[in-house]
Amino acid sequence: MGESPYTVTTMPAARRPGCPFDPPAELIDARRHGPISRFTFPGGKPGWLITGYDLVRSVLADSRFSSRKELMLHPTIDYGDIEIPPAPPGEFLLMDEPQHSRYRKPLMGKFTVRRMRLLTERVEQITTEHLDAMEQAGPPADLVTAFAKPIPAVMICELLGVPYEDRGSFQEQVDSFMDGETSDEDLVAAYTATQDYLARLVAAKRANPTDDVLGDLADTDLTDEELKGISLILLAAGLDTTANMLALGTFALLRNPGQLAALRAEPALADRAVEELLRYLSVAKTFMRTALEDVELGGQTVKAGSRVILSYHTANRDPERFTDPHTLDLHRQEGGHLAFGHGIHQCLGQQLARVEMRVAFPALVNRFPTLRLAVPAEEVALRPETADIHGVKSLPVTWDV
Ligand code: HEM
Repeated sequence: MGESPYTVTTMPAARRPGCPFDPPAELIDARRHGPISRFTFPGGKPGWLITGYDLVRSVLADSRFSSRKELMLHPTIDYGDIEIPPAPPGEFLLMDEPQHSRYRKPLMGKFTVRRMRLLTERVEQITTEHLDAMEQAGPPADLVTAFAKPIPAVMICELLGVPYEDRGSFQEQVDSFMDGETSDEDLVAAYTATQDYLARLVAAKRANPTDDVLGDLADTDLTDEELKGISLILLAAGLDTTANMLALGTFALLRNPGQLAALRAEPALADRAVEELLRYLSVAKTFMRTALEDVELGGQTVKAGSRVILSYHTANRDPERFTDPHTLDLHRQEGGHLAFGHGIHQCLGQQLARVEMRVAFPALVNRFPTLRLAVPAEEVALRPETADIHGVKSLPVTWDV
């Protein structure tokens, strides 16, 4: 039995005003006391919070920890004794092997480094179109709606084969279940509308297969329900994550003018800059796992059935892994961040996200050499901590014309 661990009683939420890039102070504090803390879930159930890099990584690589939806507890919401159903067919993020691989395997060849590099030219075109539109409309602009959301949206929809004219309404629905502040009633409505839309889309692909990821999958033995689940997970992940990285990443660059100047001055820095922004911001901030058997972790016994919260953000700010971890340093040499996770669930779309960010960040900062916030940093509205993906609701920016 190890030493008595530090205890965290609720998921820390408050971020420092004007600097929403650091994890909440209590989370950094918990890591300082050791990589694993006891945690009390809303409703009083006990569990664990893991904040240290090595332990987070080892849990992610350990098949004794499950991602199954029906075993999860929410870190901030008390659902009482409601029984959570298993993930619907196709939603493989929340499944273990062998079900997980059944869905992930047919997709892997479609998101390789090589395939995504081939898309660079298309990303450049889309980025240029959006920068042109921003420039023509003139300052000020909301960077979220003018730039950060539409670029990943166009890419994931084109890749999957979602018709252009359906994108707007579909994106609104996905936004409402990712923004962390939609009422339960509206959530159900958005979810139903999305399911209906995906059912129609899958039927259309079956009837008339197109040359895209869904068109290809429609030609396999996956059922309609499975195809709907896969589409939902790809679209939700593909729309929300990169968009939040682009907006919050721009905010972080604007707050670190020396780093912004380096990115403008050194085109070759783009790859490394993207990795550092991923590490520093860790927009996919926490994920859950459940122990399937008793496991010794950091001197503690995590009992079978215990829920574990993994803080990817504090892991990526662990001073035992990264030098001066709370500093944004685009020249940083240390790799190995966990912003895309690790192990069997490591992000399937990471190469797509990388291509988008490597093109979009430099293009934006070079197009607008005088880009700056149009409001004081403290007034930039953040997404609430209940949102799974961290970010800003809007980012008012301006520039000299
Ligand atoms: C910067 C942008 C992104 C970030 C930070 C990110 C982050 C993550 C993380 C942390 C996980 C692992 C979850 C876990 O450990 O349980 C994950 C999984 C996943 N991501 Fe991403 N993601 C990004 C972009 C994308 C894009 C563009 C796509 C679209 C294709 C995508 C599709 C997925 C899928 C399908 C999974 C589930 C993989 C599995 O369970 O095997 N992601 N992502």
